[in-house]
Amino acid sequence: MKILVIVTHPSFDQSRANRALIDELSPYDNIDVHNLHEEYPDWNIDIEREQQLLTKYDRVVLQFPLFWYSTPPLLKKWLDDVLTYGWAYGTGGDNLKGKEFIVAATAGGSEHNYRSTGHYEFTINEFLRPLQISIKYTGAVYLPAFVIYDTLEATDDQLKLEARKYAEHIRASADVLVENTKAS
Ligand SMILES: Cc1cc2nc3c(=O)[nH]c(=O)nc-3n(C[C@H](O)[C@H](O)[C@H](O)COP(=O)(O)O)c2cc1C
Repeated sequence: MKILVIVTHPSFDQSRANRALIDELSPYDNIDVHNLHEEYPDWNIDIEREQQLLTKYDRVVLQFPLFWYSTPPLLKKWLDDVLTYGWAYGTGGDNLKGKEFIVAATAGGSEHNYRSTGHYEFTINEFLRPLQISIKYTGAVYLPAFVIYDTLEATDDQLKLEARKYAEHIRASADVLVENTKAS
């Protein structure tokens, strides 16, 4: 299975959590990393290039730090620009049909705050719903998300441990991911 990890972080050079996740992926020949801020420092996304890139992979991972309970703005722009009518949806727009997507988000907040009774009132999966339905709208398959909480407090060792879980998560089969989510 060929996996493309699209990482969006406006200051990746200062990142701890997202960098730990990306560093963990280097041994895997079937995983390629595509860093949107490095590819498009001027935010001028090459739509055709992105679309061609997506078609080469079985699974796409959208990795980012949570910003205001949502994606960083360049990822939102990427979605707006790349998932075009006639390519990702609408007449003839079946290029993403059946492709698997996984969202991987890092959050500064603690897990207990991401509960209906917690400070943020909603779970991360609830905040990710616009991505979930957008992916489903294209005919692609939305698989269980991977989330790291408390990123600002986490030690390097804790981040390394999370990164190992991440590498396992994004390489697992769809069946295993869905089963694990049911069990948890
Ligand atoms: C503009 C901005 C908005 C943020 N919004 C949230 C948020 O809504 N929820 C949250 O849990 N963390 C939020 N954070 C914290 C980031 O998610 C956190 O810094 C990031 O996960 C750390 O990852 P990194 O080490 O890769 O930078 C925000 C950070 C910034 C800079």
